[in-house]
Order: sequence, then C-alpha cells, then structure tokens
Amino acid sequence: MKNTEQIRQFLERVSAVPVSVSEGGTGLNGVWTVEVGGKRVILKVYSRRRSLLRAVLCDIGYRLRGLTSFSASGRCRAERMNLEAWRRAGFETPRIIETPLPEPLPPNCLCLEFIDGPLLSSFLLDAAVPARDRKRVFRRFAEQWARRHVRAEQTGDGRLIHERSTFDHVFLCGDRFVTFDLEAAYVRVGNMRAVIAREICGYLRSVLKRCSEEQIGTFLDWLVDVYPNRAYLAYIHTALYRNPSLPARLVHGTDRALRRLRKQKMPKFEVAQRLRAALLRADAVTVS
Ligand SMILES: Nc1ncnc2c1ncn2[C@@H]1O[C@H](COP(=O)(O)OP(=O)(O)O)[C@@H](O)[C@H]1O
Ligand SMILES: [Mg+2]
Repeated sequence: MKNTEQIRQFLERVSAVPVSVSEGGTGLNGVWTVEVGGKRVILKVYSRRRSLLRAVLCDIGYRLRGLTSFSASGRCRAERMNLEAWRRAGFETPRIIETPLPEPLPPNCLCLEFIDGPLLSSFLLDAAVPARDRKRVFRRFAEQWARRHVRAEQTGDGRLIHERSTFDHVFLCGDRFVTFDLEAAYVRVGNMRAVIAREICGYLRSVLKRCSEEQIGTFLDWLVDVYPNRAYLAYIHTALYRNPSLPARLVHGTDRALRRLRKQKMPKFEVAQRLRAALLRADAVTVS
C-alpha cells in the first residue's frame, strides 16, 4: 500500500483531528491531535506539502543552503534529530512519544507531547499583560536564546539553530520555553555567525511585522537591553549589508530588490537597519 493511503487510513482509524494541515501536495502534511488513554497527543505527519516540481526545487535549495533534505522522510528524520539534540543540550522541545498506540505509527510520522500554553509571539504582543511582565519574560527567554547561540558557535553544531525561526514556534508553558517545528537542520555551516544572525532576524520579523511604529522601537530597545550577546545582534547588519563573502553579497542584493518589488512587510533588511538604530540609541545613552 502507498504511504499516503496508509497514513490516510491510520488518521481515520485513530480519529485524528487536524490542527494545521497544508493544502498543497498530498493534503496530509501537518499537525493533528489524537486522544490516547484520555490524553491528547500531537501527531505530526510529514508528507509532500507542495507540487512535485516545487518540492524538488525546494529540496535543491535546502541542500545548497547546507540543510537536510526537504523530502517527507528527510524532514521527519531531521525533526527527530533536532528535538533530541536540543534536549541533550538543555533546551526544551516537545518530547517524542515512541509507542503511543498498540499499533505502530505509519512511516514519516512522529507522536509528540502536547504542549499547553500560549505562543511566545502572542504573549509578547498581548496589551492586556503589563509591559513590565512581558519584558521580564523576554529577558528570561533572551538569556536562554543567547546561551543556545553561544553553544552553537562554540561547538559548530548547526542543529542548534532554528531554521524556521519565529516567536510563533515557541510555547510559553508555565515558566518553560518550549521550541517546536524543527524539521530542517543546518548540517553544513560555513559562517555560523551569519546563520545565528539569520535566526535572530527571523524571530524579530515575526513580532515586528505585527507592531505599530512606536511598539517597534520599544521592542528593539527591550531586545538590546535583555539579549546578552551584543556581537550577535550587531552582526545582523554586517551579514546582510557587508558580508565578507562575495556570493552572499550578491544573493542579498538580489533578495533586497525582490522584496522591495513584492512590498514585503518588515523584510529582514528593515529589521537589520532598525536594530542597528536601536544599538546606536543604546550606545548614545551609555556615553551621555
Ligand atoms: N507539541 C505541540 N503541542 C501543542 N500544539 C502543537 C505542538 N506542535 C505543533 N502544535 C500546533 O500545530 C501548529 C503547527 O505546528 P508546526 O510544527 O509549526 O507545523 P508545520 O511544520 O506545519 O508548520 C502549531 O502552530 C501549534 O498550534
Ligand atoms: Mg510551523
């Protein structure tokens, strides 16, 4: 039986409820919940999420960027490897539940602990929570965040850098920060600082694109205050505008032009410039 049919029948048998499922490709790729012994668990299904041609092009792009494969089995393997690598390094991710059901899971599926809590993005932007409390939580996050970046740089382990970096991929569960959606891993890293810069930029974009002009300034001032490793923040502008590698400079130049044409909201280039301004503001306060 084909994998997709096997997965489809399994989802039906266990009465899986869709949470977020891609419309493209096989229509099966995504996240589902299942009740097991009165407890809710997550079932993550990796299946082709785009047309065959787009999936092949995406896979080539992934390999060129030093990432694991974009195939269904490649993403499933990478997620397992990353979830485990993060936990071993002391960073929280949902636990893998190896044998949730009497019957084995179909190929390219993982069963994960269900995490109950708001996304960190929603919490940081929640006007109903006093700003002081949000900044306190952000400070705790930033300390762990920087610790992970330093660890990746010191060990050269690109798996510790989130490829789909966004505050929408972190749950705030009590006082724990639980990061998820780790289905791609950097396995060949030329310039770790540039990869770290890209990650930080992705996180910032996810919040800044939802902020008012005034909130943007406040959020970046918080960041500069709470994130302990200023060199990584400063490198974001360098990586995008003065990258030591000529091919990288060419890629960024083209990317900048394309994003301008598409009128993208808060592109990474704007994040870099605004963050640079926030770093200069902080320096001006220190000097005066
Ligand atoms: N372990 C989990 N616990 C609770 N909800 C989860 C968990 N993992 C994923 N989700 C929910 O499913 C959504 C999509 O998950 P994600 O891993 O980002 O999948 P995708 O690869 O399709 O983006 C999340 O935004 C979240 O709402
Ligand atoms: Mg996701």
